[in-house]
Amino acid sequence: MKDGPDEAAARTTILTVNGAVHELALDSRVTLLDALREHLGLTGSKKGCDRGECGACTVHVDGRRALSCLILAHAATAKEITTIEGLAEGEVLHPVQAAFIGHDAFQCGFCTSGQIMSAVALIREGHAGSDDEIREFMSGNLCRCSAYPQIVTAVRAAASQEGN
Ligand code: FES
Ligand code: FES
Repeated sequence: MKDGPDEAAARTTILTVNGAVHELALDSRVTLLDALREHLGLTGSKKGCDRGECGACTVHVDGRRALSCLILAHAATAKEITTIEGLAEGEVLHPVQAAFIGHDAFQCGFCTSGQIMSAVALIREGHAGSDDEIREFMSGNLCRCSAYPQIVTAVRAAASQEGN
């Protein structure tokens, strides 16, 4: 029997997410975002625009920020992927997560996981030196609720806590 298009396109994809290795049979066109959300049940990364414009799907790939809606899942094989679900240590929130709560840096929360993933990376990269620098390096993460002032405050607070 002739393979249908989906069957023909399926391939084994091995994703390492938050330290756990997953072997998935995925259509080669599946994005990393859809693999995380639809196949691994990790729905913390959000699908806002699905075309690289909003930052809601931000994850870390080998420690660097990446828009998971723009990456094919199979291209992430052999890379270390971290999502918002992998930030906390058990019941202890990551300092950036705690700072977002402490400074009311969200309203509806839809953009928040992407904001936090970007913030963690920019602090690690040493780009939290001033409010302007934070705004610049967070500019790829949009917030329709306009919680920007509180987001900057939270990032600054988390950065100072980490000695930046
Ligand atoms: Fe990926 Fe908007 S969903 S950038
Ligand atoms: Fe609603 Fe940012 S908190 S979109």
